[in-house]
Amino acid sequence: MAPLDQTRKASPQAAPGDIGSADTSKAGSRDIASRLLAWYDAHHRDLPWRVSPGAFARGVRADPYRVWMSEVMLQQTTVEAVKAYFRNFVEKWPTVEALAAAPAEEVMKAWAGLGYYSRARNLKACADLVALRGGRFPATEAGLRELPGIGAYTAAAIAAIAFDQPAAVVDGNVERVMTRLYSIETPLSEAKPQIRALVEKLVPQARPGDFAQAMMDLGATICTPKRPRCMLCPVREDCSAILSGDPERFPVRLPKDDKPLRRGAAFVAERADGAILLRKRPEKGLLGGMTEVPTTGWTARVDGATTADAAPFRADWRRAGQIGHVFTHFALELDVFHARVTGDAPSGHFWSLAHEISGEALPTVMKKAIEAAIPGATKKPSSYSAKRPA
Ligand code: ADE
Repeated sequence: MAPLDQTRKASPQAAPGDIGSADTSKAGSRDIASRLLAWYDAHHRDLPWRVSPGAFARGVRADPYRVWMSEVMLQQTTVEAVKAYFRNFVEKWPTVEALAAAPAEEVMKAWAGLGYYSRARNLKACADLVALRGGRFPATEAGLRELPGIGAYTAAAIAAIAFDQPAAVVDGNVERVMTRLYSIETPLSEAKPQIRALVEKLVPQARPGDFAQAMMDLGATICTPKRPRCMLCPVREDCSAILSGDPERFPVRLPKDDKPLRRGAAFVAERADGAILLRKRPEKGLLGGMTEVPTTGWTARVDGATTADAAPFRADWRRAGQIGHVFTHFALELDVFHARVTGDAPSGHFWSLAHEISGEALPTVMKKAIEAAIPGATKKPSSYSAKRPA
């Protein structure tokens, strides 16, 4: 192992705006990029949407459709959670034209459980538009940004990974790597332009797509939020946070406000044959277009309507438990009630048969509510009927 360069020690009086005394010269940037790419060649993660490192040089191109799909799914979602959804989507709809031809309902159903459902609506809208324009994704960040659901990050990631454009791809992993590499003392929420400018300097002209993914992999596997594995890091010699002795301190964050709590009640009505009463949420707003069991409003008041009296219709409601779910801007607690009922579905509602429930576009919070009332009901039919008492 090469010795650490003690001349680049971070200043003990580092102030906001400082970037330690890290080397931001062209030559320094080139070294970092080439060390990172060599590490990526040997240690990259095998992920279902990737082609092997250096593929561009051998004329192998990542399919822009698969890159786009993976990047949309990976917005605010972990790699582990995305893998199975990605495989299912590309198996069902192998091309952008196939996805455009699919009914929106089917796409929402396949997305159920992945969260942030506006992504699924935008995915479909984007596929429709790209297919209408001949099935080719634009190859530039500017062109990509005009498509539904593609913001600055996603456009840069697709441009780099699918089209080998030298775009600066900055996600949470990359922010952590950069704030450590340069000991950035500015709180992360204010440091983003500075980080972007530093990434722009690092991006190499050759293999920018692999460079983007190498940065992500480094952040995910070595430069982790807790207990980073600095001894294995390919750019430890360039890292000023390691010299400060406390790389975990970066990125610097402002104290977080707690999320507000909302409360409500959910009503799981079950027919004798195991069908469950569902309804569709309005297209716009939180969980827009997804399916749900009837609920009260979700109020910020802790004494909100959480009793059976608030049910949308009369039945012998029994309290089945309470579930919690955390959304981006608030936490939700739902008291769950269960009743066995007969008769037609009230207006705006429908019965979902027992074997169809696992295929409904139910967001995770709704699956939790149904499971609290009827354990196993949202699982695939074979496991459900096997466990359910007669
Ligand atoms: N997170 C976001 N995009 C990613 C990618 N292409 N590979 C790994 N992790 C990611």
